[in-house]
Amino acid sequence: MNGKHSVTVTDNRTGRQIDLPVKDATEGPAAVDIGGFFKQLGYFTYDPGFVSTASCHSSLTYLDGEQGMLMYRGYPIEQLAEKSSFIEVAYLMLYGELPNTAQLDEFSGIITHHTMLNEALKSFFRGFYHDAHPMAIMVGVVGSLSAFYHDSSDITNPRHRIIAAHRMIAKMPSIAAASYKHSVGEPQVYPDNSLSYTGNLLNMMFAVPCEAYRIDPVAEKALDLIFILHIDHEQNASTSTVRLAGSSGANPFACIASGIAALWGPAHGGANEAVLSMLEEIGDAKEIPKYLARAKDKDDPFRLMGFGHRVYKNYDPRARIIRKMCHEVLAKLGDENDPMFELALRLEEIALSDDYFIERKLYPNVDFYSGLIYKALGIPANMFTVMFAIARTVGWVAQWMEMISEKNQRIGRPRQLYVGPTRRDYMPIEERR
Ligand code: CMC
Repeated sequence: MNGKHSVTVTDNRTGRQIDLPVKDATEGPAAVDIGGFFKQLGYFTYDPGFVSTASCHSSLTYLDGEQGMLMYRGYPIEQLAEKSSFIEVAYLMLYGELPNTAQLDEFSGIITHHTMLNEALKSFFRGFYHDAHPMAIMVGVVGSLSAFYHDSSDITNPRHRIIAAHRMIAKMPSIAAASYKHSVGEPQVYPDNSLSYTGNLLNMMFAVPCEAYRIDPVAEKALDLIFILHIDHEQNASTSTVRLAGSSGANPFACIASGIAALWGPAHGGANEAVLSMLEEIGDAKEIPKYLARAKDKDDPFRLMGFGHRVYKNYDPRARIIRKMCHEVLAKLGDENDPMFELALRLEEIALSDDYFIERKLYPNVDFYSGLIYKALGIPANMFTVMFAIARTVGWVAQWMEMISEKNQRIGRPRQLYVGPTRRDYMPIEERR
C-alpha cells in the first residue's frame, strides 16, 4: 500500500477539488482512501451493502469474483482442498504460514486438549426448550463462554488472544454436538482426544452410551474437506459483524456469538438449510420451470436458494469442489443416484441456461451442494448452518486477531444519510391529534 496514485474528486457545487490517495493491493482492485473525504469536502460517502467499500485491509483471504477464484494466505482453495487438512489450514490462517510437522503436531494437540466444556455449561443447554434451533443454542452458549475464561480475556495481550482463539476453535464442535444432543433428547458425549477434529464431532453427535459407534472414514474425510472450504471468505456479513463487535474491545467469545447470529440468516449461511427445504418443496424435475418462474418474478419473494453471490460473478470455486465431492461421497455411501442430488444437478443445468440467470451471472454458491453432502452423512438439516459456523470460527478468530493486533485499531463507526424529520418541538399529548 504505497499511496503513489491518487484520484481527483471535483465538487460541482463549489468547484473544490481534492486528491484522494490510492492504496494498492497485492491482488485485486486498489482502494481509494476516503478517510479524509468528510473533513475536506463535508460529504459522507454512501454505499449501502458495502458494494464498493473496503472496510479494512487484510492478509487472510483473497477472492476474485470475476474469475471464480479463492485463496487463503495466497494458497488456491483447490490445492488446500486436495492436499491439506482442516487443522493445517486453521494453523495457516492463525499463524500466516503452513506448519512443519512439529508445529502441526503441537497445534493439533493444543486444539484437541481444549475440546472439553466446563461442566457448568450443561445447565445452559438444559435451559433451552427441546425444539430450539441449534443455531439459537449456539448463539447463546458461545456468548456465555465470555463468562468462563477470565484468564484469557485481556485482548491487548497477544498470548491471551491466541489462547482465546484456540479455545473457540476447539470448543465449537463440542458445543455444536451438545446443541444437537439436546434437540434429540440424548445425553451429551464427551470429546475423545484420540479422534480427529471431524471424527470427534461425528462421535459427539452420533454416539450413544448404549452401543458402540463406528466413525465412517468417508464421512470424517468429507467433513474435513467441506470445513476447509468454509474457513474464511473475506469481509462477508458475519465476519464484518465479528470485526465490528470486536472493534469496541468486546470479549472475543461475545464477538464470535455475534458472527454466528449474522451467519444464521438465509441470505448467508442459513442458505444451506434453505436449499434442502427448497429441493424438497420442488420435489420433481418437472416442477423446476414453475420455481424458476417464481425466482424471476419480482413480486414473489422466492429466490433460488444456493444461487447468486455478491462477489462471485462466475462459478463459486467452493461449489465446484463440493459438487464433485457429492458424486464421490454419494457413490461411496452407496447412493449416487440420490433423487435430491439428481434434482439439484437438473436445477443447476436449467438455471444456467436461462437468460435471467445468465444476464445476472447467478451461479451455484457454496451452499447449493453442501446440504446434500451433510444429508448423505446423516447430519440433520437444522445442523447444516451449525457445521458452517464450526468451520467459519477459524476465519472469524483469524480476522478478529488481525484486526485487534493492528497498530492504529479504532472502533468501527459508520455514518449515515439521515432522511428523517428535521428539527421540531415536543408537543404535549393533549395537543396532539
Ligand atoms: N434467485 C433469483 N434471483 C436472484 C438470486 C436468486 N438466488 N440472487 C440474486 N438474484 C437477482 C436479484 O433479484 C437481482 O435482480 P435485479 O438486478 O433484476 O434486481 C440480481 O440478481 C442481483 O441480486 P442482488 O440481490 O442485488 O445481489 P446481492 O449481492 O445483494 O445478494 C445474495 C447476494 C447471495 C444475498 C443473493 O444472490 C441471494 O439472495 N441468494 C440466495 C441466498 C443464498 O444462496 N445465499 C448464500 C450466499 S453464499 C454463502 C454465504 O454467504 O453464506
